Amino acid sequence: MRRSNSSLSATAAEPSADVVTSSLSFFLLGATGRTGLPFLSQALARGHFVTIYVRGVLKLPASVISHPYLRVFTGELHEAEKIELAIRTAKPDVVYVMLASETKPHTAVSTGTHNTLLALRKLKAVAAVDPRPTPFISIAAWGLGPTGAYMTNFFARMFVSVATVLFWSKPLADFEKQLAEVGDAKDKGLIRPTLILPALLNDGRKTNTYWSGEASIMKEAMGVTNFVSRASMADLCLKLGERVASGEEVPQWVGITNS
Ligand SMILES: NC(=O)c1ccc[n+]([C@@H]2O[C@H](COP(=O)([O-])OP(=O)(O)OC[C@H]3O[C@@H](n4cnc5c(N)ncnc54)[C@H](OP(=O)(O)O)[C@@H]3O)[C@@H](O)[C@H]2O)c1
Repeated sequence: MRRSNSSLSATAAEPSADVVTSSLSFFLLGATGRTGLPFLSQALARGHFVTIYVRGVLKLPASVISHPYLRVFTGELHEAEKIELAIRTAKPDVVYVMLASETKPHTAVSTGTHNTLLALRKLKAVAAVDPRPTPFISIAAWGLGPTGAYMTNFFARMFVSVATVLFWSKPLADFEKQLAEVGDAKDKGLIRPTLILPALLNDGRKTNTYWSGEASIMKEAMGVTNFVSRASMADLCLKLGERVASGEEVPQWVGITNS
């Protein structure tokens, strides 16, 4: 299958060219995470400007922290005015949320998203950022949004039910809260959202052999125990950001899995 101009079909990753000719401005939450870090390195290496908002810089490698295209703001996710200042400074072409709500208080994803959307709303009202809907790319999980209905297999449903009860109930509840607010912001013309939906993640290398595409097309290829590496997912996030910023249509729900 090949990629069409209007939407992604399931397609194997293609190698990236080295450096882009036109640099973009990205705003990133979750830069210190296991997906955020490879994304940050890849985006800087491609020649993009990245503004990050983190609660501490200790997890950032020296080569990243000293990069001339990196701008760092520090603060907590509930500090809405600090997030607003970071976004005002970045004037982002694409906003990325790579947070996780897997540790207490299990609210990072929804809090970071809420205050980012609040800032975008305020800044667009005074033309401090581009008033058109901002591309917004965030990582969720396969089974959320429309993809819950794609899990018809008995084993898959049992696996997810047990794992939800044992480990995932709080992070999943926080994703649901985020997705409700993202849907509302899309309807109001604030953002153009793309939710990346992996099944399971590992820390393997970035490959050029993962498969990704619009979720309904990916449903046959996706299984609840499928893995993809965080570095490959970062690669997909970067490519989708470049495509949507260049005016290409990108689907709202995107599945990804290793080949
Ligand atoms: N694990 C899986 O198999 C799996 C499967 C599907 C989807 N996902 C989802 O994929 C996403 C990315 O996962 P990942 O493994 O890359 O995440 P990760 O390594 O756990 O990174 C989490 C990021 O969120 C930040 N964060 C967490 N709690 C915070 C808080 N209270 N305040 C401020 N920042 C906070 C962390 O900042 P600090 O560095 O400051 O802590 C870090 O930057 C997550 O949403 C996860 O739920 C995971």
